[in-house]
Amino acid sequence: ALISLRQLLDHAAEHDYGVPAFNINNLEQVQAIMRAADACNSPVILQASAGARKYAGEAFLLKLVEAAAAAYPHIPIVLHQDHGASPAVCLHAISTGFSSVMMDGSLMEDARTPANYAYNVEVTRQVVLAAHAVGVSVEGELGVLGSLETGLAGEEDGVGAEGHLDHSQLLTSPDEAADFVAQTGVDALAIAIGTSHGAYKFKRPPTRETLSISRLREIHARLPNTHLVMHGSSSVPQEWLRVINEYGGEIPETYGVPVEEIVKGIRSGVRKVNIDTDLRLAFTGALRCFLGQSEHRAEFDPRKILAAATSGMQALCQERFEAFGSAGHA
Ligand code: G3H
Ligand code: 13P
Ligand code: ZN
Repeated sequence: ALISLRQLLDHAAEHDYGVPAFNINNLEQVQAIMRAADACNSPVILQASAGARKYAGEAFLLKLVEAAAAAYPHIPIVLHQDHGASPAVCLHAISTGFSSVMMDGSLMEDARTPANYAYNVEVTRQVVLAAHAVGVSVEGELGVLGSLETGLAGEEDGVGAEGHLDHSQLLTSPDEAADFVAQTGVDALAIAIGTSHGAYKFKRPPTRETLSISRLREIHARLPNTHLVMHGSSSVPQEWLRVINEYGGEIPETYGVPVEEIVKGIRSGVRKVNIDTDLRLAFTGALRCFLGQSEHRAEFDPRKILAAATSGMQALCQERFEAFGSAGHA
């Protein structure tokens, strides 16, 4: 059944666990996540970006999630709009059946200027008013996502800021976060504590200072009733990079956020953990591996090929459900 993000994350906060929010684009990804959730008895957050809608078409995405709810009636599902770029996008998602939306008012390049802060407050407040009237939850975002190591935002177009940023610009301010929540009434808040989108987060193996857990704790102390969200939470598994490169790929050396760091984040108040890149890596790695094995050289049935990719992705989802503690809470 579809439930709101608020319902799920209130339960997560009460029982001290985090929930991975996985991006979906097609049937196989939905099946991988749902099979993993079923195996672990975990609630799920399925999130769709603008790119997902463009790829699959909105009708297909919605029906895939309806099918997931019908096939797994015992698994609570949140259907979340990822990175809604405007109130119009969020209101549309609400009207088509999403149970949660993200109003990302910090997407603009000048995200740190007072003008942008006022804009972010205003658009987020509007979305909260409309969403809460129909029981839908809202995630806002405050701060510029970017790596504390490089000072650079993530790779993906349209997500994150341009150019080089210094340390203080890459951490959400606790005072501003408290003011933002008071003014908007969001259920969940995405904060910048050193993560960035995409596969190229860190050039060197990350250390204990990868994330600013102290900043996270400060924000959580100010906002005990607002669920904190960590975007850019892929771990970029080195095993999958090796598999991809062994079977014809060419991905340069790169590192993500270690799962143990995310678990520390969850202990310090993070409830929703956004993961997309790791799913892409596991899917592609399993696909390349299957096609590259000599016994499969004559294989041309897409079902066989995609079944391998789906199970690679499913295993990764199960690991995250277990590590973040949502397993057993469906
Ligand atoms: O935050 C971005 C997600 O990874 C979605 O990526 O816009 O390519 O679908 P996308
Ligand atoms: P990753 O690129 O680290 O998987 O982050 C995904 C994300 O934040 C989606 O909103
Ligand atoms: Zn994101």
